[in-house]
Amino acid sequence: TQGAFELTYASMYQPPQELHDAFESALKTFAADGAQEHPLWIAGKPVHTEERLDKRSPADLDTTIGRFSVASLRDADAAMAAATGAARSWGLTPWRERVAIIRRAQQRIQARMYEIAVAVSREVGKNRVEALAEVAEVVDFCKIYCAQMEAHEGFDRVLPSDPVPGMHLTNRSVMRPYGVWVVIAPFNYPFALAAGPSLAALVAGNAVVLKGSLATPWSGVLLAECLHEAGVPAGVFNNIVGDGPGIGAALVTDDRTGGVTFTGSHAVGRGILAHQASRFIPRPCITEMGGKNSAIVLPGADLDAAAKGVARSAFGMGGQKCSALSRVFVHEDIADDLIGRVAEFVKTLVIGDPLERGTFAGPLATENGYRNFGRYCEQLAGSARIVMGGHKPDMPRRGQYVANTLAEADASHPLWSQELFCPILLVGRVKSRDEAMQRANAVPYGLTAGFFGAEEDIPWFMDNIEAGVTFANRSLGATTGAWPGYQPFGGWKASGNTGKGLASFYYLPQYMREQSRTIA
Ligand code: NAD
Ligand code: ALA
Repeated sequence: TQGAFELTYASMYQPPQELHDAFESALKTFAADGAQEHPLWIAGKPVHTEERLDKRSPADLDTTIGRFSVASLRDADAAMAAATGAARSWGLTPWRERVAIIRRAQQRIQARMYEIAVAVSREVGKNRVEALAEVAEVVDFCKIYCAQMEAHEGFDRVLPSDPVPGMHLTNRSVMRPYGVWVVIAPFNYPFALAAGPSLAALVAGNAVVLKGSLATPWSGVLLAECLHEAGVPAGVFNNIVGDGPGIGAALVTDDRTGGVTFTGSHAVGRGILAHQASRFIPRPCITEMGGKNSAIVLPGADLDAAAKGVARSAFGMGGQKCSALSRVFVHEDIADDLIGRVAEFVKTLVIGDPLERGTFAGPLATENGYRNFGRYCEQLAGSARIVMGGHKPDMPRRGQYVANTLAEADASHPLWSQELFCPILLVGRVKSRDEAMQRANAVPYGLTAGFFGAEEDIPWFMDNIEAGVTFANRSLGATTGAWPGYQPFGGWKASGNTGKGLASFYYLPQYMREQSRTIA
């Protein structure tokens, strides 16, 4: 059986039969048991707490998919203490041993990938292919970080010995971990964005405290299980589930924290950065934040490819991707044609139970997102031309389902600049490529961007667009679908503070600090 980790973009949209078979058999084996208790992981042990969260399925709010332990501030403190206690010996463990453990974790994740995908699909409501792709992404993170450690010999470098002949010095540069790394993850990629930063921090020699989103508490538990099955020593990886302002804030402000990776909204990320900036001892803080991603479509484009790429990126996973497309600027000469083609294609996309084969988009993952969608539609109803959607469809189950929404709005409409995180795509007609570029860049965000047009315009697009991840003429996704190792994924401007894409060549070294070693 071909593993989903070998999925190509093409197979993501036309998955092979064996992938469906394996997913369906996992669905039967790992039936959701609403009464099953899921612990925190602290100091190498599962910890069941007094406070429990009964997690409801976003696809059917009358179903509970599990009972999750929720951390108190005391649990957060215990996790920090465990990580602090384990950090030194993990940091001094030879990097080859750490690599061997992460490779075993990769094997555990690969072996359990269908089970994990079922859990991801259940808790966040994404379709099976997106869920499998998310687990596959984590397998790739393991491979990439381990390969990078090996390619750079653990990032140790022997430097020239004698600045002045005859001094007989040995000089080395070694990269050392920071100690305890706090990872704060969002709900929309609950497994990949918990694992991506955590694995980088671990392989670099840091102990980790992970706090995932309360909306998606399951993925972190499964990650903790795989890492412990792989032999990660007690205390080196801790997973706690809790709210952001209480538990998350306690972790990022703790003096024992050596570094932070936050992935989530701009509002929260900015607050975390402000806190880090005010500390006496500065520490690295990677913040990957929101997006308001655009595509530009110009004459010369293959409009069929453009329509598919635009629709897939705007409406895949209900627009709940940081990379989701939410603004398209199309030349007025081809605007009607493009809008018509997008609308036709969108009609073929099935909204429904995420676990069913053939579902393109499931429900929105959070109550908040579902409420927001309604508010935005009301706002659009009086102020824009709604081409399609704009409502919550009737469905057989009481889930957070919403309709794919396409609207034309004036350039002054307030929704052009705000991240909506739901399937609403705004279309703007432009008179020239320069107007398209000016409008595309006229937001504070700079995560992903797409282009459809003549080949000779691609360098112009990539040189001028203010975005960390760019795609041209890709029908499988105008702005979404970056794959580790192929498309580094990181934001510019308000979308990210480091400009180093996840899993890129530049990413892993951020989890280490240089020590210069000279011996006479
Ligand atoms: P969010 O900002 O609401 O929450 C993210 C995480 O931060 C959660 O674990 C939350 O509990 C925690 N948190 C909240 N307040 C906190 C505080 N004061 N201190 C510490 N932690 C706190 O984001 P979300 O709704 O879970 O995710 C959606 C957002 O994430 C969108 O804006 C999306 O664009 C962004 N996102 C960005 C990327 C990227 O790579 N740039 C990837 C995925 C998602
Ligand atoms: N890797 C995901 C995408 O590009 C975030 O859509």
